[in-house]
Amino acid sequence: MDRAAHIELILDHFHHPRNYGTLDDPDILVNGGNPGCGDVVTMYIRLDEHQRVADIKFEGKGCTVSMAGASMITELVRGMTLPEIEALSYDVLIDQMGEDVVKSRLRCATLGIDTLKGAAREYPTRQALGQKLIQPIVLAHTLRLE
Ligand code: FES
Repeated sequence: MDRAAHIELILDHFHHPRNYGTLDDPDILVNGGNPGCGDVVTMYIRLDEHQRVADIKFEGKGCTVSMAGASMITELVRGMTLPEIEALSYDVLIDQMGEDVVKSRLRCATLGIDTLKGAAREYPTRQALGQKLIQPIVLAHTLRLE
């Protein structure tokens, strides 16, 4: 994809977000946010009996790149396990958004994926306690691009 195609895809996801909305009785409900700008995303996930993502929805309010990134990642993680989500590289976003956008707008581009990664990290502890994961996640932004 060239730069124009990446921008077109970003705008398409922003104007027509995939998997936008909420889920009743999700196994995971997490909020992520970027304190610097106030942009927020909420992810709702339902897991199947094999602990794979059976359904996912998101809601959010933010810039074009953050909302497009959240929409893209909900498409990509369907069918994945939580450890697979935790292991995802930002390359999956670079493939769709382009390297320029992801590198220059890292916090925007990764709001959705980092919220999911936070959930994937936290969920095993909650599960061991017999609880669902219904809580805000504070984004660590621990991942870095080379
Ligand atoms: Fe806040 Fe993009 S300006 S996430």
